[in-house]
Amino acid sequence: MEVIDCDVVVVGSGLAGLRAAIEAARVGGPKLRVAVVTKTQPMRSHSVSAEGGTAAVLYPEEGDSFESHMWDTVKGSDFLADQDAVELFVREAPKEIIQLEHWGMPWARREDGKIAQRYFGGQSYPRACFAEDRVGFFEMSTLYTTCLRHDNIEFYDERCATAIVHEDGGRFAGVVAYDIKSGDLEYFRAKAGIIATGGAGRLYPFASFGHSSTPDGLAMAFRAGIPLKDMEFVQFHPTGLVPSGILITEASRGEGGILRNSKGERFMERYAPKMKDLAPRDIVSRSIMTEIREGRGFKDEESGYEYVLLDLTVIEPEKIVKRLTSIREICLKMRGIDPISEPIPVRPVAHYYMGGIDVNISGATEMPGLWAAGEAACVSINGANRLGSNSTTECLVWGRITGAEAARFAMSHDDPDPTMATLQQEEKRIYDVLLGPAPRVDPYDVKAELQKTMEEHFHVFREKGSMEEGLRKIRKLRSEFEMGVVDKSRRYNTNLVHVLEVDAMLAVSELIGAAALHRTESRGAHYRVDAPKRDDASWLKHILLRKTAEGFAFDYKPVVITKYQPQERVY
Ligand code: FUM
Repeated sequence: MEVIDCDVVVVGSGLAGLRAAIEAARVGGPKLRVAVVTKTQPMRSHSVSAEGGTAAVLYPEEGDSFESHMWDTVKGSDFLADQDAVELFVREAPKEIIQLEHWGMPWARREDGKIAQRYFGGQSYPRACFAEDRVGFFEMSTLYTTCLRHDNIEFYDERCATAIVHEDGGRFAGVVAYDIKSGDLEYFRAKAGIIATGGAGRLYPFASFGHSSTPDGLAMAFRAGIPLKDMEFVQFHPTGLVPSGILITEASRGEGGILRNSKGERFMERYAPKMKDLAPRDIVSRSIMTEIREGRGFKDEESGYEYVLLDLTVIEPEKIVKRLTSIREICLKMRGIDPISEPIPVRPVAHYYMGGIDVNISGATEMPGLWAAGEAACVSINGANRLGSNSTTECLVWGRITGAEAARFAMSHDDPDPTMATLQQEEKRIYDVLLGPAPRVDPYDVKAELQKTMEEHFHVFREKGSMEEGLRKIRKLRSEFEMGVVDKSRRYNTNLVHVLEVDAMLAVSELIGAAALHRTESRGAHYRVDAPKRDDASWLKHILLRKTAEGFAFDYKPVVITKYQPQERVY
């Protein structure tokens, strides 16, 4: 196995990964070698498709405040967010907006020339900064070009990271990656590492994620003995375009768009009388599904998906053209619908995972020398339900924090001494797949079946019996799945990458299912019809899943409460 030496290895090249790489390179100075290992080409990372905005308090003199952003985030999280982390987040957020501006980010402007902001769900002030509705694209371009200005950042594209390597004593010692281009395995020996591979990704068939978004990083961390936290909380964004699942940004409602049922009613007035269409996502998604279940939806005969309508015809056409540019283009190209004059068919779409790798407020995992940032990590600022426009900010804030921490760790530690056993095991694991027999079960069928199972049993509304059945199906799929490939070629063996991804998807789906069954209450995005109330006495705590010889065990962490005691969420 080829050894590539570096000081800090960043796995993943989305917003969190790129921001972390820049900060590590800056803090460490020109001698610190930063390697970015990424499954795609950086500008194809899923962060590129972030649409609507990045939240920060920019104008306290005009009425917004850290207090308000913090309260909105904690209330939005259904009081499961750690409040010390949320406070740090809201205070650091504006600095990242300005930092990006200095690196060239073309933020939209107000008439007075200052950075413009707009409303997002659950945010009681217009605090989402934006650049049309292509925020992710512009942020990624800004960060990527900034990375390219640092000679000490090296990109290793089209590498699928497969294992975390550590020393006998447990300290991080680098990662193994499969070079998709050559078919070789490489060991990135590093003193410090940052996992920034995104969340669990496309575990559902109707999803806003790109197809390359899979839980590789989460599964890899779990296999290395690092616990995952709050995995039961899956966010369904209210408005995925039917039938593709492409995201129709919440900024559409932030700019004035309205949800309507088949009777033409603005039904959100009934579910959230004050915030209406701009209530938090868990509430809007449940409301849409309730309208559909009670027969006030529409049906797309071809896909079978039921939906409601998002009406943007109430917005001035010029605003749609200028501020919802991509949404109009997507609707025209994918559905032949011009949102200026026609409503858009939408339904809740799997969009984000509140859970992830358990980290502390600095983004540090339990493994010395290893951090995690962005959607891969669970700090937790999102608790049971993330507010829209907070996640791109989280990527920037904890990208910076973890990049600095990892650089400082690398500068104060010697080269690691990896356990050779991990490297040998990993070599054997990958080459056994490549050289072994072709699988009897088609991994593409397994993936489709898994996604169907997740949609059927772990969607917006959950119930004990159905979840038990779902978990049984996942375990059956897992037991029948075989790590093998039909395609034996070395170069660009996407079949092999797919098998590794499906393996990770099965492992992480099982953890999501188990955690969802374990939490016998409803909180945020986790809604159980058999336990419809929040139960703070039993469940005001984070659930951790730890690897054991038998599979996994539950563990718990208290929620950090500094300012706000839990109360009823009314919107
Ligand atoms: O609706 C959106 O543009 C998504 C934003 C987010 O998930 O933060």
